[in-house]
Amino acid sequence: MNPADIKRWIAAAEAAFTSSKDLDDLKIARLAHLGDKAEISLASRALGSLPAEEKASAGKIIGEGKAAITDALQRATLKLEAERDTKVLLEEVVDITLPVDRAHRGGLHPISIIKNEISDFFIEQGYSVEEGPELESGWLNFDALNIPADHPARTMQDTFYIEPVDSGMVLRTQTSPVQIRSMLDNEPPIYMICPGRTFRADELDATHSPVFHQVEGLVVDKGITMAHLKGTLDNFAQAMFGPDVTTRLRPSFFPFTEPSAEVDIFFNGRWIEWGGCGMVNPRVLQTCGIDTDVYSGFAFGMGLERTLMVRHNVTDMHDIVEGDLRFTRQFGVGL
Ligand code: DAH
Repeated sequence: MNPADIKRWIAAAEAAFTSSKDLDDLKIARLAHLGDKAEISLASRALGSLPAEEKASAGKIIGEGKAAITDALQRATLKLEAERDTKVLLEEVVDITLPVDRAHRGGLHPISIIKNEISDFFIEQGYSVEEGPELESGWLNFDALNIPADHPARTMQDTFYIEPVDSGMVLRTQTSPVQIRSMLDNEPPIYMICPGRTFRADELDATHSPVFHQVEGLVVDKGITMAHLKGTLDNFAQAMFGPDVTTRLRPSFFPFTEPSAEVDIFFNGRWIEWGGCGMVNPRVLQTCGIDTDVYSGFAFGMGLERTLMVRHNVTDMHDIVEGDLRFTRQFGVGL
């Protein structure tokens, strides 16, 4: 056992440890200089075969050599660990003083969502989606729809008239005037819907709002019958309320349809009134210059608030008009 050898091993180990770039490097160096096959380890194992008188002194210098190498390893480990920690802290730094982005992305009101759903459903079937003005002529809102001058809907109670009253302008009380506009502007065949805002002089309460929405539907073509109307309403109802919903027509009266009906849906175990419908009154078709010997048509009209309330069990109109995000967010709007 040569002390000079041991000095060399210590020097080589120290050099390897201090030149290690990181802890992985150091691990390799440790195995080479302190592992089972390292020279100092082999020397340590060879101690057993030395003559008894040499054992003690050889054991001492090997022990000191091992301690020196272990010491060097310890120092290198501490240094490389400190370097790693500094690097990680720098890389993963989070500036908690940066301002938070609190801007909301915005989103659609549930009435807009349902309006888009309805539009998509009818567009798929070749209907056009039309718009008309909210400030409408009384002639289009009433007269052309065969609503006579003495009809109760024309009294000041229901209709917002625009000053001067003899301007003949009203805030439209229904989307039905858009039917007239459509028939005046286009030749049949006509397949259109018109979702839009409507106005009536009602107090805001749990079921009424002075500003609300309807969707109007109108089809004028050759050979249109009530069977077409019923089939269209069935499909529409299923698109809105699910595949299990059924509809029924109840005889009713509207000046612009003959015969007229209320549409009810069977939903959540009970019959619920959904909207109005009927075959377009020939007087209305004739007012719009359509040949009633050749063409017939059907029409329907539903409230969007009502559709939303029935479908989602909303019991208070205030929730729909007040714009509270806690209500709106329930409809999956990204806000
Ligand atoms: N305009 C009617 C209303 O406001 C709803 C309606 C009923 C529209 C029957 C129609 C229809 O087109 O055929 O109460």
